[in-house]
Amino acid sequence: MVRPFASVLVALALCSAAPSSQPGEPFKPGKLPPAEVAALAPGLTLRFYAKPDNKTPLDARRVRLAALHVPADSPPTPFIAPGPFHAKLTGYLKNPLKGDYSFKLVGTGAITLKVNDKTILTLPADTDKSVEIELTKNYNKIEIACMSSAKGDATVRLYWAGEKFDFEPVPPDVLYSRHDDADLVEKSAVREGRNLFANLHCAKCHTFQGPEKSIVPTIPECTSHAPHLDNAGRRFQYDWLVAWILNPRALRPEATMPSVLSGPEAEKQAADIAAFLVSLKSGDALPATVPNPKAADGRALAKRLGCNTCHRPDDPQKKDELGRLSHFFTAAKYAPDALGHYLKLPHRRHAWTRMPDFKLSDAEAAQLEAHLRDQSKGVLPARPKGDAARGEILFEKTGCARCHTTRPDKQTALYQLERLRALNKGCLAPKDHGKGPDFGLHADQRNALLAFLKTDGISLTRETPAEFSLRQVNTLQCNSCHRRDGESTRWHAVLEDEGKEPEKLPSLTWIGEKLQPGWTKKMLAGEHDQRARPWIKARMPAFPARADMLAVGMSHEHGFGALEDERPKHDAKLAAIGEKLIPQQGGFNCINCHAIGKTPPIAPFEAPGINLVDAALRLRYHYYQRWMLTPDRVDVSMRMPVFATDGKMTQIREVFDGDARRQFDALWHYIQTLPK
Ligand code: HEC
Ligand code: HEC
Ligand code: HEC
Ligand code: HEC
Ligand code: HEC
Repeated sequence: MVRPFASVLVALALCSAAPSSQPGEPFKPGKLPPAEVAALAPGLTLRFYAKPDNKTPLDARRVRLAALHVPADSPPTPFIAPGPFHAKLTGYLKNPLKGDYSFKLVGTGAITLKVNDKTILTLPADTDKSVEIELTKNYNKIEIACMSSAKGDATVRLYWAGEKFDFEPVPPDVLYSRHDDADLVEKSAVREGRNLFANLHCAKCHTFQGPEKSIVPTIPECTSHAPHLDNAGRRFQYDWLVAWILNPRALRPEATMPSVLSGPEAEKQAADIAAFLVSLKSGDALPATVPNPKAADGRALAKRLGCNTCHRPDDPQKKDELGRLSHFFTAAKYAPDALGHYLKLPHRRHAWTRMPDFKLSDAEAAQLEAHLRDQSKGVLPARPKGDAARGEILFEKTGCARCHTTRPDKQTALYQLERLRALNKGCLAPKDHGKGPDFGLHADQRNALLAFLKTDGISLTRETPAEFSLRQVNTLQCNSCHRRDGESTRWHAVLEDEGKEPEKLPSLTWIGEKLQPGWTKKMLAGEHDQRARPWIKARMPAFPARADMLAVGMSHEHGFGALEDERPKHDAKLAAIGEKLIPQQGGFNCINCHAIGKTPPIAPFEAPGINLVDAALRLRYHYYQRWMLTPDRVDVSMRMPVFATDGKMTQIREVFDGDARRQFDALWHYIQTLPK
């Protein structure tokens, strides 16, 4: 490997068994005191400062990777105005083996990398250069400080290479930092409060008033709406409505809808409002989806699609280790056939629902309805009928209309109450909520909201896609199906009892570096008409409302701009060489496992690969090279053969003297020529 930078060997490593330093002493890499290790969590800590030598950060949060991307004129975090910034990423690199490693920085602005307190690289001086140092086994301290340029995007990415592998982004499973630093804990509470404020729809009834004018929240989670209640009369059952309105959390402990009714009149009022809702039959009657669907077919389908990674049939008040949503009252909630219609288009009346869209056919939706009705055993008491006319007035008066509309074509607006005065009153009071609704908040949620309400609220007008995507991957429970950063999936946990394993699904660890955000966005929106892996029985569901920012955010998380993809210019000569490397004769036999356009793979049984036409459209070039050179380092569970066992040369010596990189580059040029 040619390394233009004079490969100085900086001997930083001290004895690896040495105890770590005391405060004031220089840091000693290696083992850390047990108390320090106990406080570590995967990932690094990212802090922003007004000035580089400030002690107190403006903001702090945790990140998975040694990377950052902030587009020009965008806020680096929701709590900081757009403009130039100083940032620091800190933590430990936990190294499995003592040895020599090379580091490389890619980025814009002024960046320095310190390892074990010594500066080893600075940008822009060391652009395109790398430096080799010795790392101790176990913990090595790392710090990346960056000052963004006055103009343009701000980007940082840290790469490393070892004896057995070429340059790759430093993987998340070797990065650690303390999760309990006081500033981090404080800023995390404010962040959590902001999320709660958005997700509990506080802005429907309250707004912040900034120093000059009142703040109108613009972030997507704040402008998302509660479900539309049009046609409620054909969709929901009366007794369920009364119970839900009285206390949503009795039926679903994780409900975000508050109880708005209290006092001796509550039951009567709930009945009146429910009577009003069942009178709403504006839409079409719901046609039966298909005749006589079988519950057994629905059960098999639910298994295949992994519904039970997020749902369970038993009583919601019974604890579930995986925190899955109960279907106990689902049959009692939905009118006949309405459940199937909901499952077909779960986002139709609630764009921000967390329930994914599996693109079910009519028959599948009907089968799943039959299965759920079979499973869902919750029975609710019959309630006396209420008065719809009174209910219509109460719907406005008690605040339902702040969050819900009964018109399919109309959204609710954001309201503006007076500036919040006593923060521990009303909705945030521990017990008596006065005229305010009851969200059933826990103490830590209340504290987070309190911390957030003490800020100026301007963060409700700023979003950072990288943070959004981290948040949504948790909220939407992508880990039901996908591995990430060495963590297993909920699907594995669910099947463990049966002694089974789920299918091999792609990992999300490298997703922002791997896929073109445009492709990912279309996939998350459910707009691809073909699947990359037709052999998989599970199905990637769609989350259309979040698709755009989620795709862009995952890319930013890895330190890439949405459009950043330095693809080599197409070269017909190289493509011709690449074509010859594909077949078994004189090539790598890629077609054994990979389809190419309409030509199916020859023997994909053990390790089916993705159609190379799709690969050309999906992948970023740098990831492609990395995958081809070291598929086992990128994802060891995918059984793609390693063609360059030493990371440099392949068995085919006649082409480019066996130079793996150049051969894979030729293959890349070839797959770019395939008809789409
Ligand atoms: C459906 C409308 C509605 C929603 C949604 C709502 N509130 Fe309220 N809030 C009220 C009403 C009504 C009051 C009582 C005002 C009064 O008693 O004068 C109140 C009072 C308060 C108070 C006491 C304010 C004071 O000045 O005394 C706080 C703090 C508060 N709410 C915070 C929140 C938070 C945080 C959320 C989101 C979790 C939220 N509210 C959601 C309607 C709402
Ligand atoms: C990744 C997690 C996830 C998977 C997988 C999933 N769901 Fe859901 N589902 C949810 C969440 C979360 C909600 C609650 C949505 C909300 O209130 O916004 C939900 C809601 C529902 C509801 C509505 C419940 C109600 O009380 O109105 C039904 C019915 C449902 N899911 C059925 C299914 C079926 C059938 C499958 C499999 C095809 C499935 N879900 C797969 C997460 C999931
Ligand atoms: C602060 C906003 C808010 C207020 C106020 C509110 N809701 Fe809701 N409501 C929601 C949200 C959000 C959901 C989705 C389920 C969840 O997350 O709890 C929901 C769900 C529902 C549903 C089920 C809809 C579906 O498609 O599954 C009904 C019915 C409903 N609310 C009726 C009411 C009525 C009636 C009132 C007034 C008594 C009311 N809500 C007050 C936010 C609100
Ligand atoms: C019910 C299971 C399930 C859930 C939940 C799920 N996925 Fe997937 N996902 C899949 C399956 C199956 C595939 C493979 C689809 C294919 O390639 O044909 C996939 C593929 C993907 C891919 C393409 C990866 C690649 O290398 O080709 C991305 C990106 C992705 N999912 C992101 C997400 C995100 C983000 C979430 C959460 C918002 C999520 N998924 C939730 C099942 C799921
Ligand atoms: C023994 C089977 C096998 C052979 C031979 C094979 N691959 Fe693969 N390939 C795989 C598997 C398995 C995957 C991972 C599939 C997945 O992500 O689900 C893969 C993934 C890929 C990807 C990533 C595709 C994407 O869009 O995510 C590329 C590119 C690729 N292979 C190219 C090649 C090329 C070029 C050759 C020949 C030099 C080749 N493969 C030979 C099995 C194989």
